[in-house]
Amino acid sequence: MDLRGRVAAVTGAGTGIGRAIALALASEGARVAVTDLNPDWAESVASEIRQKGGEAVAYRLDVTRRADAEAVVQAIVERWGRIDIWCNNAGISTMNRFWELTEEEWDFNINVNAKGVFLCSQVAAKQMMRQEPMEGSDLRGKIINTASMAGKRGNAPFLAHYVASKFAVVGLTQAMAGELAPYRITVNAVCPGYVRTGMQEREVLWEAKLRGVTPEEVRQLYINDTPLGRLEEPEDVAGVVLFLASPASDFITGEAINVNGGAWMD
Ligand SMILES: NC(=O)c1ccc[n+]([C@@H]2O[C@H](COP(=O)([O-])OP(=O)(O)OC[C@H]3O[C@@H](n4cnc5c(N)ncnc54)[C@H](O)[C@@H]3O)[C@@H](O)[C@H]2O)c1
Repeated sequence: MDLRGRVAAVTGAGTGIGRAIALALASEGARVAVTDLNPDWAESVASEIRQKGGEAVAYRLDVTRRADAEAVVQAIVERWGRIDIWCNNAGISTMNRFWELTEEEWDFNINVNAKGVFLCSQVAAKQMMRQEPMEGSDLRGKIINTASMAGKRGNAPFLAHYVASKFAVVGLTQAMAGELAPYRITVNAVCPGYVRTGMQEREVLWEAKLRGVTPEEVRQLYINDTPLGRLEEPEDVAGVVLFLASPASDFITGEAINVNGGAWMD
């Protein structure tokens, strides 16, 4: 999938799925803005890309802050002239029984996971709407959101607030796809399952405590729930994002594609 000449930005790209997405886009020749709340993590991924011969620059971007998104979009456009691919990947989670969830947990999950996608997409879309179509395509830009299996399957224990935030991402993906289609901008999402990242490590410990089992038993539950029979790797997700970023998917918009080894098939 040749992405040479394309300009991409990834949020929450300092580790986990976002890091894998940034590396995958760069490996196909895209110039990548590696953004994260943690600037040191962003810089380490950007330098990893440069060491491999790719082109990357790191920015601190808190997706809950419009001013951050505007500053980063402006900096990318000053540097590379445009933004072809914007990946809203940053996300967080906490776990609790529904009846014990606090307002703070609700606000934190909704703010980062849903409002973050809204704010960053709005800022990125405004840039895409005023730029010329990409070379060799009739599209001006592509927005790709990291939703979740929990964006389609509400039966996810201890994650009611996270489920709500990810259903919002899937809904927003469809709504934005409809409104941005006349401007030749596509909007799609990926819905990962049980991915081996720092987020999963934290969730395994919380869930073990809430269920009264061992962390290893929780990991086994995740594997048992996955027909393809293993935990998902960040690269499993990045491969599908690469497809959505490439010309091969130019006529797909408003989709939320499951990437979960069969754990949820709807
Ligand atoms: N790990 C899974 O099993 C799984 C499954 C489905 C979906 N997801 C989604 O995938 C995305 C990435 O998750 P991950 O597993 O790689 O998580 P992770 O915790 O390993 O990495 C998340 C990254 O996002 C950054 N981040 C956190 N808050 C931020 C903010 N306000 N602004 C900008 N960056 C911020 C963190 O610094 C970190 O680098 C999230 O949207 C998550 O909800 C993960």
